[in-house]
Amino acid sequence: MRKNFDPKKTVVTPLPVLIIGTYDENGTPNAMNVAWGGQCSEYHVAINIGHVRKTRDNIHLKKAFTVSFATKDTVVAADYVGIVSGLKEPKLIEKAGWHAEKATMIDAPIFKELPLTLECKFLREEETPEGEIRIVGEVVNMSADECILDEKGNVDLSKLQPIVFDSAALAYRVVGEKVGNAFKDGTQLK
Ligand SMILES: Cc1cc2nc3c(=O)[nH]c(=O)nc-3n(C[C@H](O)[C@H](O)[C@H](O)COP(=O)(O)O)c2cc1C
Repeated sequence: MRKNFDPKKTVVTPLPVLIIGTYDENGTPNAMNVAWGGQCSEYHVAINIGHVRKTRDNIHLKKAFTVSFATKDTVVAADYVGIVSGLKEPKLIEKAGWHAEKATMIDAPIFKELPLTLECKFLREEETPEGEIRIVGEVVNMSADECILDEKGNVDLSKLQPIVFDSAALAYRVVGEKVGNAFKDGTQLK
């Protein structure tokens, strides 16, 4: 037996916990938690963003943003930047305890406490017929702290320990064990 649910209670998993970093007109860094977003082609990311967001204003101003990945060690601060708006108060060093430094290729902040970051140039904002706002960015750089690299110098997700948003339980879960090899395991059924 399968149970049917209200379409507004849709569970899509995994939803990421993306932290979007931006600067305002005074160079004050801001961070925001985004679950409705991700990589949409080789060099592009897209995020669905509410109409009233400090992050949206900052992206319009600086034409740039960073995308970092919340981790097991940064759950509390990641949730905090998802429930308090920079329109009301500065929310980084003061509360989240994150420290910002300017990204190398764009005018947006990297947070030292988040070890993996994409630097994105603002490409366009789209409004869907349903009234949703979607921001598309071009990834121009990715940087990773050495602490999450493997012996070959590649990003090791077991060291990063990214978290995902569990919309069914309103919880955060850590990305788990490796269970297969992409583009390879299926070949045994060919
Ligand atoms: C788990 C979680 C996921 C969220 N996902 C989104 C999202 O995809 N899009 C969005 O606009 N807001 C999302 N939010 C809400 C924003 O993070 C929140 O409104 C934040 O305070 C906006 O910050 P800002 O005004 O400083 O940009 C999410 C919040 C949480 C806790």
